[in-house]
Amino acid sequence: MKLRIILRKSIQKKYFTNQSDLQMKEKIENLEKLREEAKLGGGEAKIKQQHDKGKLTARERILLLVDEGSFQEIDLFVKHRSNDFGLDKQKIAGDGVITGFAKIDGRQVALFSQDFTVFGGSLSETHAEKICKIMDMAMKIGIPVIGLNDSGGARIQEGVVSLGGYAEIFLRNTLASGVIPQISAILGPCAGGAVYSPAITDFIFMVKNTSHMFVTGPNVVKTVTHEEVSFEDLGGADTHSVKSGVAHFAFDSEVEVLLNIRKLFSYIPLNWKDLPPEKEFDFNNDFIVPVLDTIIPENPNKPYDMKEIIHQLVDEGEFLEVHSNYAQNIIVGFGRVGGLSVGIIANQPSVLAGVLDINASVKGARFIRFCDAFNIPLLVLEDVPGFLPGTEQEWNGIIRHGSKLLFAFCEATVPKITVITRKAYGGAYDVMNSKHIRGDFNFAWPSAEIAVMGPKGAVEIIFKKEISAANDPTKKLDSLLSEYITKFANPYIAAERGYIDEVIIPRETRQRLITSFQLLKTKVDLNPKKKHCNLPL
Ligand code: HXC
Repeated sequence: MKLRIILRKSIQKKYFTNQSDLQMKEKIENLEKLREEAKLGGGEAKIKQQHDKGKLTARERILLLVDEGSFQEIDLFVKHRSNDFGLDKQKIAGDGVITGFAKIDGRQVALFSQDFTVFGGSLSETHAEKICKIMDMAMKIGIPVIGLNDSGGARIQEGVVSLGGYAEIFLRNTLASGVIPQISAILGPCAGGAVYSPAITDFIFMVKNTSHMFVTGPNVVKTVTHEEVSFEDLGGADTHSVKSGVAHFAFDSEVEVLLNIRKLFSYIPLNWKDLPPEKEFDFNNDFIVPVLDTIIPENPNKPYDMKEIIHQLVDEGEFLEVHSNYAQNIIVGFGRVGGLSVGIIANQPSVLAGVLDINASVKGARFIRFCDAFNIPLLVLEDVPGFLPGTEQEWNGIIRHGSKLLFAFCEATVPKITVITRKAYGGAYDVMNSKHIRGDFNFAWPSAEIAVMGPKGAVEIIFKKEISAANDPTKKLDSLLSEYITKFANPYIAAERGYIDEVIIPRETRQRLITSFQLLKTKVDLNPKKKHCNLPL
């Protein structure tokens, strides 16, 4: 009897298990089918249209961007809630945006990728909710957000609900600023207020010919201002990476954009409390770079390419330039020194003599603030004749904009090293991370000229009377010039006062930087407590 009961229980158990196995198998198959359907987005025909435009699909982009097999999607089955204008008959799973988490070089990231095949990637209430969800998660976890934008803007059929969705995203972009890095790729249209979410993020990548950003498109422009302008001229990658400075990077293809986002990611930390990734580095090598002794021309008014110096100073010559085609009189970008990620800000003597103007100041300031927010040490290479004079600059506010660069350097508490290669004149000497504004190590090459202004201008002002009273004014000017150059056009007066920590031989610079950045690894410096600063905007 006892045996019979045991037998019956065991048979029952087997029977029910098999039954539930069967049900589960069907459920899994159903889920897989739903997933496959959802992953098609707007369908094969729309995917073909996307490819025909030379664009990748939202999913293809994710595959290229993240480590293989690392993408974990969420909200695949989210659908919009709108029933107006026939939308009740067009409910597509995912609602035009793919969201989730993945890894890049083994490090976590949150991402969204807008799917143009679904309502032109337009932003509905639920589309916005999906983006907000991963942004909220990213803030809690402390990981960057990457947005792959390809969207016709607010979903017109949803009206104010979709505008509200944008505002929810803008708020999160703002609150996340300085907490986690935010990177935007513009891979298609980006119109209307939609541009303001990427604009608040830290870096914008664009693709030439297939991506556009504008507040109002060519048709509206024509109606309002009677200007005829193409999509590309109004808001293409060249326009924004050369003229407006809205885009930090512009590439010929989407693949290049995605690979360069990976590259950028390798220099930055996951959040403001994290440190940037450090690469293994062999400190036993010889870090003397003799070619650095030969770069500065004998004639102080002759240009040279500061990028040559940068490439000699960074590990393996690798430099990721940001804003490479905008305000080229200043160079900004990322490199590594002794395995440590550093942000480089350098004057470029081969463009406008390296002078600081409005655009260069704003470009430099924004970059410095990103590095400081995310614990990336700063390396400044200085050869600057001063701020650009003239009505154009003054009337457009060089005072207000130039002060942004000054403010950003003053405010930064990360390790800060300056190397003056040649000119450090006037206010620009103070601004470019001088000792007085908390430069940690200030080095100068023997070719450095540290003075209130260039020799000729200075002598003509302070010896105006003597020169005009002289029998031979040219001879007098020459003799006074040579006296001034001997006295001021060198780094030794600043070194006497300790404003320059050491005058170094150019070939020793890389060695010095490696040692100094290592020394500064544990640097702690704090600004006074406040609600927030009032940056001169
Ligand atoms: C709903 C949209 C849409 C939108 C495009 N679609 N934009 N659906 N809302 N905003 C749909 C189209 O109806 C079409 O659907 C499909 O997406 C593809 O669009 P096409 O026009 O066929 O593609 P293309 O020729 O490549 O042109 C893309 C485009 C154009 C340049 C983006 O669609 C366009 O100009 N859209 C409107 C852009 C815009 O003005 N958006 C509102 C901005 S104001 P079917 O079914 O035919 O395939 C804004 C406010 C934000 O965003 C405020 C925040 C502060």
